[in-house]
Amino acid sequence: MTTRKLTLHTASRSPSHVSEPSARYQLRMVLPTPEWELKGSAAVHPKSWEGSSLVQEASLQQIAPFVGKMKCTMAAALVRAFSNEGDVVLDPFCGCGVVPLESLILNRHTIGNDLHPYAYTITRAKLFAPTTLSAAVKLAEHYIGMAEQATDLINLDEVPRWVRKFFHSRTLQETLALITLLKAHEQWFLLGCVLGILQHVRPGFLSYPASHLTPYLRETMYPRSKYPAMYEYRDVRSRLIAKVERIYRRPVAISPKLRRAVLVDNARALPLESDSVDAIISSPPYFDALDYGRDNRLRLWFLGVPDYRLINSSLIRRPGTYLEEMRICLIEMHRALRPGRYCVLVLGDVEKNGSTKNTAELIGIMARDLPQPFVVETLITDEVPDERRSRRRTRTTKLERILVLRKPQ
Ligand SMILES: C[S@@+](CC[C@H](N)C(=O)[O-])C[C@H]1O[C@@H](n2cnc3c(N)ncnc32)[C@H](O)[C@@H]1O
Repeated sequence: MTTRKLTLHTASRSPSHVSEPSARYQLRMVLPTPEWELKGSAAVHPKSWEGSSLVQEASLQQIAPFVGKMKCTMAAALVRAFSNEGDVVLDPFCGCGVVPLESLILNRHTIGNDLHPYAYTITRAKLFAPTTLSAAVKLAEHYIGMAEQATDLINLDEVPRWVRKFFHSRTLQETLALITLLKAHEQWFLLGCVLGILQHVRPGFLSYPASHLTPYLRETMYPRSKYPAMYEYRDVRSRLIAKVERIYRRPVAISPKLRRAVLVDNARALPLESDSVDAIISSPPYFDALDYGRDNRLRLWFLGVPDYRLINSSLIRRPGTYLEEMRICLIEMHRALRPGRYCVLVLGDVEKNGSTKNTAELIGIMARDLPQPFVVETLITDEVPDERRSRRRTRTTKLERILVLRKPQ
């Protein structure tokens, strides 16, 4: 197999078919190895990330919302437990970059990968953020100033109606002028910030009252007749500066020597050398539990994806092909991982038509039966409280399971 060679950047250089098993196997639960115990098995006990992580996590982790975002305290516990300082940690399905950022914070080099353009943007924004608030504000003021000069040139006639419905026309012109400029100059951090303030009911956001995570207007709850102020012009300048300031409220100290890379590749074929990463920590998709295209369609439109279905067709999510695609990804993860090291996958149980699919068990069986097999070390179960679920009373998961695989020496 040919692989492209990947260069990791430091911040300073910024810039076979598988059917479901007929007989259900029970995964073997093994005791932690002595080395594992030394690192503190308590660190991977779900109790260690119980409660809200919102007040503890780096505010950079809150740059923009993402459906299915991993809890930062869980990501940090897994990085700490399954890798060492100076290791290279890979997340092949990194979503909004929680694992890569926690890896940097914990002194690991990191590689994040996700095929989704919005996930890619947010991860780049996090990994290559300016190191100080003053540098970030200066950068924001520079680009806002430039965009303001171009605002009048923005013609909204070509903007689809469904997008226009979310914004006051002047706010939309300003937003488009700025986003166009930020994309042209590859200013991922600011791009991430603007996408993070795109939609919400709060006054610090750019849209008319809308939900924060998925793009739905809240016109019934907040009718124009009763809440006229919510439908007025909202300037981008003050909101973006305030957003940048919020991001540095709980700043992070990351060594500039740490190497980092963000890829937008298919996890089935990563441009990584064999045996080159020291740990894989990831939360792959679980069957069709979440719709990453539709749920991000407004942000995707601003990123240049006119139709979210284009994204969905390349992501792993269709139940009919899910296991087959994940098998190819497991083979790829096995190839990239150094012998003796861990591949830790956070997977949810999926409820559908009254039955529950234990995704982690299915993946564990597959991983154990590959031509070059993983050893299934353990399976840890974490109950997800309702407030942490992206959607309630639907197909999304109630139980999260942490499948710990190891590539044999
Ligand atoms: C459960 S989410 C990851 C969430 C992430 N841990 C976070 O904290 O934001 C799964 C991710 O896998 C990505 N994905 C799905 N199929 C993919 C593929 N074939 N290659 C790369 N990424 C893919 C989706 O875009 C989504 O972001």
